[in-house]
Amino acid sequence: MIKVAPSILSADFACLLQEARRMERFGADWLHIDVMDGHFVPNITMGPLVVQALQGRVGLFLDVHLMIEKPQDFISQFHQAGAQMLTVHAETCPHLHRVIQTIKKMGCKAGVALNPATPLSCLEYILHDVDLVLIMSVNPGFGGQDFIPAVLPKIRALAQEKRKRALTLDIQVDGGINEETAVQVVEAGADILVTGSALFSSAEPQNMIQALKMLPAGK
Ligand code: DX5
Ligand code: ZN
Repeated sequence: MIKVAPSILSADFACLLQEARRMERFGADWLHIDVMDGHFVPNITMGPLVVQALQGRVGLFLDVHLMIEKPQDFISQFHQAGAQMLTVHAETCPHLHRVIQTIKKMGCKAGVALNPATPLSCLEYILHDVDLVLIMSVNPGFGGQDFIPAVLPKIRALAQEKRKRALTLDIQVDGGINEETAVQVVEAGADILVTGSALFSSAEPQNMIQALKMLPAGK
C-alpha cells in the first residue's frame, strides 16, 4: 500500500502538535519535516527543536528532509531529537557515502534526495546503501509549487533499477503532489507520497489521504 507523508510545512505552526495528531487520525503514515537553512534553499523553516517537540507525542514515523548545507554537522542533533529517517540532498554531500554510513550507524534510516535537475546516475554506487530515495518534483524551498512532470521518467528509471537490482529502498516523491499528480507518480513507481499544501488546504483531508493510500502501485 502507498504511504502518505503530510508535510508540516503547510500546517498551522501555532498548533503543530494538534495538526500532526489530526493527520495521524486521518490515516497518514509518516510525518514529513522540512528543514531549510536559507543557504542551500532560499527559505528558513525549522530545526531539531521542532522534531524534539513532536517526538513521543505522535505515533507517526518522523521523516526529516534536510535541505541544508553541511548536513553531516547536524545528523547527531536530529537523531537525538527523535528523527527516524534522515534524508540528505546529494547536491550538498561531496562525501555522500560517508554521510549515509554515519546516519545508519546512529540507528536512523538514511535517505538521499535529488533536485529535479540532478540525474539518477549520481546514485549508481550508493543505491544499495540507502533506505530511501527522494525524488524532488519541485525545486526545494517552498510549499505550494507546481509539480514538474519532467521528473516522471526519473521515477520510472529508479523503479526499474530497484526491480533489476532487487533493492529494498523506498521511492518517495515530494513537491506538488495532489490527487491528480499522485496518480502519475504512483503509476511511475512511487511508494511514499509527500503532500503539503494540497492536503492541508483540502476540504476533506481524510478522504484525500485514504484515496492516495489506495492508488494502485505501478508495475
Ligand atoms: C519543498 C518541500 C516539500 C513541500 C511539499 O521544498 O520539501 O516537502 O513542503 O509541499 P507541497 O505539497 O505544497 O508541494
Ligand atoms: Zn520535503
